Amino acid sequence: MTGVDRRTFLIGAAAAGAISTGTAHAATTSFEHGVASGDPLPDGVLLWTRVVTSEPIRWEIARDEDFHRVVKRGTTRTSPARDHTVKVEVHGLRPDTRYWYRFRVGDVLSPVGRTKTAGCVSELNFGVVSCSNWMAGHFAGYGHLARQQDLDAVIHLGDYIYEYFNADFRAPDPPHRCVTLDDYRRRHAQYKTDRHVQALHAAHPMIATWDDHESADNSSSIGSPQHDPATEGPWAARMAAATQAYHEWMPVREGKLDRTFRFGDLATVTMLDLRSYRTDTTILGAAQRAWLIKTLTTDRARWQLVGNSVMISPFKIPPLPGFPPSNPDQWDGFPIDRELVLRSLGDRKNTVFLTGDIHSSWACDVPLNDNSAATEYVVTSLTSDNFDELLKVPPRTGSLQLEAQIQVLNPHVRFVELDSHGVSTLKVTKDEVRMDWHYVADKKNPDSAVARAHSFRTRHNTARTERVLF
Ligand SMILES: [Fe+2]
Repeated sequence: MTGVDRRTFLIGAAAAGAISTGTAHAATTSFEHGVASGDPLPDGVLLWTRVVTSEPIRWEIARDEDFHRVVKRGTTRTSPARDHTVKVEVHGLRPDTRYWYRFRVGDVLSPVGRTKTAGCVSELNFGVVSCSNWMAGHFAGYGHLARQQDLDAVIHLGDYIYEYFNADFRAPDPPHRCVTLDDYRRRHAQYKTDRHVQALHAAHPMIATWDDHESADNSSSIGSPQHDPATEGPWAARMAAATQAYHEWMPVREGKLDRTFRFGDLATVTMLDLRSYRTDTTILGAAQRAWLIKTLTTDRARWQLVGNSVMISPFKIPPLPGFPPSNPDQWDGFPIDRELVLRSLGDRKNTVFLTGDIHSSWACDVPLNDNSAATEYVVTSLTSDNFDELLKVPPRTGSLQLEAQIQVLNPHVRFVELDSHGVSTLKVTKDEVRMDWHYVADKKNPDSAVARAHSFRTRHNTARTERVLF
């Protein structure tokens, strides 16, 4: 170790101790935040870990979990400038193939992760998740997805972390709301100490985008109602801090969150970024809107799946004390963008929006004039409070009447369930896209049972959703 390296290491070790737990633990090299992979391509995948060291970090990827058949290996480094996170771009892999990977510093091995490349396939299976609030519960739903053997990837639709502070159930770190780069790094670090988070990432590659709570409630490029420039400084600095921490800590490629993933001629997954370019008048921004419309109308895959952090279907909210008639944080606040996108689809009835954000389960025929232009499936929150909890009524009581009212006011809503938490799985075949909702019995129990509760499908070329009985 040279003098400079040694000094960098010591600074890094001290910073890491302060950042992650406030204790000086960094003298021992460890992979305490697990491993992750993401952004699968036909020939490669992104690998992620975090380790406090100035030594070379070796990585290897193999066709078997015992690493007898290593197909690629290399070395990389990290530094305090990136909060000791590590990303490796692996290329030269085979499509539609499972791999196992791990990292090593000296004699210290990381946990083993399993991943999969994208490919030209006849069937795809995704996990679909959103709104994983550390403060509101345990992540048993992640554990449920981690145990599924057949997933191609897990699509995270945002609110992977929550930036605010309350300590009603699980206390967050830092013990105040996140504003600075150190704050956001600490919050991300805490999430990646959770055993269900680690299990999920170690089991499947993730395709993630963000929503508002990775920065601040109802955020946009110009601010957030939960940001006070007088006491918290310029919004641009806070957004830059949130963006940097997200890119350091998530298994996403550097650069943009709006991006596409191709699975042969079966499906293209287009992930949107509905926060970075949002203003008062556009949810997408002009460049992302043009790119989305071009992708949806020229891509040749049989299905267009859109990872969409907030609901695109119109939603008239039934009269309720304290509730507005609509939610302008969703696409309802941006009718011009919505109409331009839906109108562009024309007769192509192959677009399915996958949505998070509203902590409840929905299946919708997305209307345009008197027709249905697409379908939309909304995954419920992993843990974030939903309707019964906000109203402090028992589940499946006060919500039933509201669900009925929603369907009367919004006839394009084919299914809505306001109370349950959990995850979804999505099966894509040539003939249909099917969304299954799996509900956790008790979000406050880390070992809660999780079971399939509802199932809807869209048949190709219909832009209609229908219940599947099982
Ligand atoms: Fe949320």
